[in-house]
Amino acid sequence: MPGAGCDMIERLAVGGLIALAMATAAAADTPSSLMAGYAQAAGVPVSALSAARGEALYRTEHRGRDGQPVACVSCHTADPRQAGQSRVGKRIEPLAPAANPQRFTDAAKVEKWFRRNCRDVLARECSAQEKGDFIAWLSQIK
Ligand code: HEC
Repeated sequence: MPGAGCDMIERLAVGGLIALAMATAAAADTPSSLMAGYAQAAGVPVSALSAARGEALYRTEHRGRDGQPVACVSCHTADPRQAGQSRVGKRIEPLAPAANPQRFTDAAKVEKWFRRNCRDVLARECSAQEKGDFIAWLSQIK
């Protein structure tokens, strides 16, 4: 029965395409998809994310664990289109997607560094709303 054979091949091909599409989707986070995810987690529409609050989060100094003032700016510099420096002097590529298209394209990496850096600077984790605000600000920088 040639018809059945073709049908089988077609089903395999479609299955392969779907698997490929899913694999691609998992790898391809974008600033917009991350903002949508954080807004949803915070229970607000994406339009309620605030670039102004995101910028304030970036610039506001806090008393760090060692009592010295620390902010996101301390490592990422006042201009997120510029490369920054870690405490041990290692280069940090710019945070703004306009200057570094790899930023905010990997949800696991973004979560890892939000957790670590928010604890470091704010002595607590950032909320979903704060993370959404932060990306909203950075992604509108030209
Ligand atoms: C002590 C230095 C330091 C401070 C302070 C700091 N960061 Fe970072 N940040 C890093 C390093 C190092 C990386 C990882 C290296 C890289 O990705 O270039 C990073 C990466 C990130 C990333 C990953 C983004 C991506 O898609 O690659 C985010 C988000 C981030 N930081 C947010 C923040 C926020 C928010 C603050 C302030 C609350 C902050 N950082 C303060 C050092 C710092």
